Amino acid sequence: MTLPVRALYVHIPFCKSKCVYCDFLSSPPTGGDCLERYFHALENEISLYSQAYTQFETIYIGGGTPSFPPIGRMEGIFRLLQKLAAPSAEYTIEANPDDITPAIAEFWREHGINRVSMGFQSMNAAALRFLGRRNSPGQNRTAYEIARRAGFRNISADMILAVRGDNIDNTLAEIAGMAPEHVSAYHLTIEEGTPLSKGYSVLSDDEYMEQYWQTAEFLEKRGYRRYEVSNYARPGFESRHNSNYWDYGYYIGAGLGASGFLPGANGIPFRYKNSIHLDEYSAGLEKGVLPQYNIEELDNKTIARELIMLGLRKTDGFDPEQLTALSGYSLPADGLMELSEWVDARGGRVKLTRRGLEVMDNIIEKMWEIIR
Ligand SMILES: C[S@@+](CC[C@H](N)C(=O)[O-])C[C@H]1O[C@@H](n2cnc3c(N)ncnc32)[C@H](O)[C@@H]1O
Ligand code: SF4
Repeated sequence: MTLPVRALYVHIPFCKSKCVYCDFLSSPPTGGDCLERYFHALENEISLYSQAYTQFETIYIGGGTPSFPPIGRMEGIFRLLQKLAAPSAEYTIEANPDDITPAIAEFWREHGINRVSMGFQSMNAAALRFLGRRNSPGQNRTAYEIARRAGFRNISADMILAVRGDNIDNTLAEIAGMAPEHVSAYHLTIEEGTPLSKGYSVLSDDEYMEQYWQTAEFLEKRGYRRYEVSNYARPGFESRHNSNYWDYGYYIGAGLGASGFLPGANGIPFRYKNSIHLDEYSAGLEKGVLPQYNIEELDNKTIARELIMLGLRKTDGFDPEQLTALSGYSLPADGLMELSEWVDARGGRVKLTRRGLEVMDNIIEKMWEIIR
């Protein structure tokens, strides 16, 4: 398993304020020189990786909120990353609409960024307030206009489904009116320990599935293809970065708490997670040591299970020959026959049927049981 490493994720763990549902590693800066220390350490980390890896086909700056720190603080990172991008790379930044100004959009363009993923979440003021978002529907529209005017030809809009009381008809209609190239429609997950986890009554599975299929049908009628459980794109605008995760490709994760998946020197693939403590993260990097913690070498069974779990997220599923080539495991024909109501294994791909998608977690477990 010696595929090249062509994807780089860079984590920016800062937000202006914390949304009530979010459990990602992000917080408002704690003051002092924390931003300065962080960006210094991150530059060191990216430089270390650049000694072994370059010419990335996709770079993704995510967070947290990469549009929040002052651009002057991030310039060093942008300069480094621009040199690491292959000429035709997809280079994305995640942005909160309320941060987007003509100056920042221009600055991103000058530094080679060619895709912006905007966290709209909803086009309804009440839902945005309920979610603890700083952006308003008006700011979503303005941010989109600014990015277009700055020359971005690849814009993605994030929305959240299953927010009790929210009207997704309006959000869908407004997003369709703007016509971004890509839409991610996530299911609101209630994460333990978040303010939302206290006392929120979740939508039933049926209510959620109704919104899910409404979203899919609405977007598909307007030229978007659902290519992954929660992701829709106009032809040719599927996210190359996220597709690499689902295709079981390697990637580097840089930044506080970032995860990566790489081939080991012994040929065995491993996953790692960076330290989540700024002191620990920066101290290692000062000495030129990568802050990789929780290193897990993957055995063949784990590889098979992960490949199935990720591959089934895509509407065109996975190639069973890739499963065997990477893990030595295969799916016996009789086992697949028994799952035929939920799994379509024709045409050299293994994918979920519409019914299978609705019980995806069960089907993944069933497949884990039948691999040999
Ligand atoms: C981690 S955020 C980073 C981007 C940016 N800070 C923003 O909020 O738009 C990436 C996406 O994950 C979504 N997200 C975070 N927590 C979520 C949850 N509990 N359920 C569903 N979506 C969630 C966000 O709403 C956002 O669209
Ligand atoms: S959803 Fe985005 S802005 Fe809100 S806390 Fe999470 S990372 Fe920050």
